[in-house]
Amino acid sequence: MTSPLPDPADKPLLRALSRQPTARPPFWFMRQAGRYLPEYRAIRAKVRDFVALCLTPELATEITLQPLRRFDMDAAILFADILLLPKALGQPLEFREGEGPVLAPIRDAAAVDRLDPGPMHERLAPVYETVRCVAAALGPDKTLIGFAGAPWTVATYMVEGHGGTDFATIKSWAWRDPGGFGRLIDRLVETTVAYLGAQIEAGAEAVQVFDTWAGALPADQFRRWCVAPLAEIVRRLRVRHPNVPVIGFPRGAAAMAPELVDATGIDAIGIDWSVDPRWAARRLQPRAAVQGNLDPRLLVVGGTPMREATEAILAALGHGPFVFNLGHGIVPETPPEHVQAVSEQVRSWRP
Ligand code: CP3
Repeated sequence: MTSPLPDPADKPLLRALSRQPTARPPFWFMRQAGRYLPEYRAIRAKVRDFVALCLTPELATEITLQPLRRFDMDAAILFADILLLPKALGQPLEFREGEGPVLAPIRDAAAVDRLDPGPMHERLAPVYETVRCVAAALGPDKTLIGFAGAPWTVATYMVEGHGGTDFATIKSWAWRDPGGFGRLIDRLVETTVAYLGAQIEAGAEAVQVFDTWAGALPADQFRRWCVAPLAEIVRRLRVRHPNVPVIGFPRGAAAMAPELVDATGIDAIGIDWSVDPRWAARRLQPRAAVQGNLDPRLLVVGGTPMREATEAILAALGHGPFVFNLGHGIVPETPPEHVQAVSEQVRSWRP
């Protein structure tokens, strides 16, 4: 006898993202695969080149599944990086130890025109293969999340050339030459739609768009470089994939979040730790599912502060459409036991 095909309607994460009731909030953690796990560090010790690791399906699949084995989250997030897309467009990328990503910066429209989307799918084929392998390995109640960076956030790395800047170069380009800078954003909108579409066709069941640096922009620039591009990405993805939920994560831009949800039609909105969960319940949950927002530092601290903050988030948001998560990624010094403790707390909570 063959077992029945998994019914997507039974997956807690997909239920929450489509605003259907769940017995308890589903959960996963941003950066749930990574350096805080000894089994990740063991693989990383053998493969020193982070990009090569992302582009080796066998290892990327194993790393994607590692956190679920320990903590049994409701979702796996593809192990990859938002900067694989600019690399696939031909921009040289390197991850240096202790320094993060370094790219050969793009600073004018002529350099934008040299980006070549032609070979992108061929170069990203190992990522799609990872998606297929993870999808085949996941349990029937688990959801596979694909992702990309938002155009603005990816552009910050492409233009500044590295992280940890004050966005001086990209901001002055955007203000002085919005037409030329807009070409870069448009190119990223197009290629992000193609990249996410290919992940979905390979088996991703939901996608998250990370706008880590959304909080760097004034309101009018946020509308132009974050809201409008995300609205276009959602619109184009829905043409081919109307039922795949999209999670937006505009970090540091909560005051603009209600407007962002209304203008883009995203299914869920990720909130960072600075957002009062009670505010999010009032202002965001009527519009979309909410995802967040434990301070990842509390996963390092542990104990009573971690437990109480988790309880407060669940109490404020757990009655509506909600996905428990962090306010940003897990940090490397996190003790895995603390991740275990929060996982158990969320799993046993009832609305
Ligand atoms: O588990 C997961 O969440 C999936 C994998 C994932 C990674 N990066 C793996 C990674 C995801 C979703 C990302 C997204 C990403 N990458 C973002 C957006 C979200 C965020 O965290 O703000 C950004 C801005 C990047 C770019 C990036 N990648 C930076 C700035 C760095 C260096 C900083 C750091 O944490 O080391 C990375 C490297 C990176 N991406 C690591 C991992 C596991 C660490 C690499 C290592 O093992 O040395």
